[in-house]
Amino acid sequence: MPGPSSLASFAKRLQGKAALITGGASGIGETTARLFARNGAKVVIADVQSELGHSVSKKMESETGQPVSYVHCDVTKESDVENAVNTVVSKHGKLDIMFNNAGITGKYDPSIFSTEAEDFKKVMDINVYGGLLGAKHAARVMIPEKKGCILFTASLAAVIYGGVPHAYTASKHAVVGITKNLAVELGQHGIRVNCISPVAVFTPSVGRAMGLDEKTLEAVNLAIANLKGVKIDVNDMAEAALYLGSEESKFVSGLNLVVDGGFSLRHSALGFDKS
Ligand SMILES: NC(=O)c1ccc[n+]([C@@H]2O[C@H](COP(=O)([O-])OP(=O)(O)OC[C@H]3O[C@@H](n4cnc5c(N)ncnc54)[C@H](O)[C@@H]3O)[C@@H](O)[C@H]2O)c1
Repeated sequence: MPGPSSLASFAKRLQGKAALITGGASGIGETTARLFARNGAKVVIADVQSELGHSVSKKMESETGQPVSYVHCDVTKESDVENAVNTVVSKHGKLDIMFNNAGITGKYDPSIFSTEAEDFKKVMDINVYGGLLGAKHAARVMIPEKKGCILFTASLAAVIYGGVPHAYTASKHAVVGITKNLAVELGQHGIRVNCISPVAVFTPSVGRAMGLDEKTLEAVNLAIANLKGVKIDVNDMAEAALYLGSEESKFVSGLNLVVDGGFSLRHSALGFDKS
């Protein structure tokens, strides 16, 4: 039986770790920041929504008793990303977890005829190049320590057709590719690199893009789910990030952790629907 001290360490799975989360002012990033802080991490949120970023980080700090702060960072600007990583190191002495989560869907029209150069480039710039910059500056400070964990948020659209714009799908496939490349390159320095591919869960951007409210998306997810009787939400994505950021996944690298209850494995024509 585990004694009280080991139970305490189970409860705080990121005790003493320093984490930087891009896109941390909202949605999956915000929920992950809170869960990381509850698990003992010192968290820095990096985002372009400064007012929101400051207010959510203050709230999280008072809720969790952990240091949580905000740094303005546009992930497409290398100087901002460099500054965000340096801010974590100067505040907390190190960077253990870099979560490259910031992302946009772009213009929400899945037709090839609606694909526009400016929109395509913007999606690729934020979702792909922004993540790559995060990984680059994280690696710069993690390599001398010979350890670290780099995470990305990809998407179910990197696994199956998702009814989402081509730019978004292309960007998320690229994120999975970068994850695998970096896992090989940085593995020799003791750094793990993984990504998470969420099914659609309600967040401000998904609500706006799909034109759905939380209840409607919840109902859609329940109706189309492969794994029956399980309600999912943004917390399930944060739990996946917690697993990949913690020592419990210390031998896991190069993984695209698909969080979809097996949805992407099932062809509707060949299902086992008994309902
Ligand atoms: N919610 C879903 O269903 C879902 C599914 C699959 C993948 N994702 C991915 O999850 C990630 C988070 O999305 P979310 O749903 O939480 O959306 P969200 O809009 O709630 O959060 C995204 C955050 O990224 C920030 N951001 C945008 N551009 C930025 C930039 N240039 N620099 C720094 N920050 C920037 C936004 O300000 C926002 O706070 C994205 O990469 C998204 O593609 C979401």
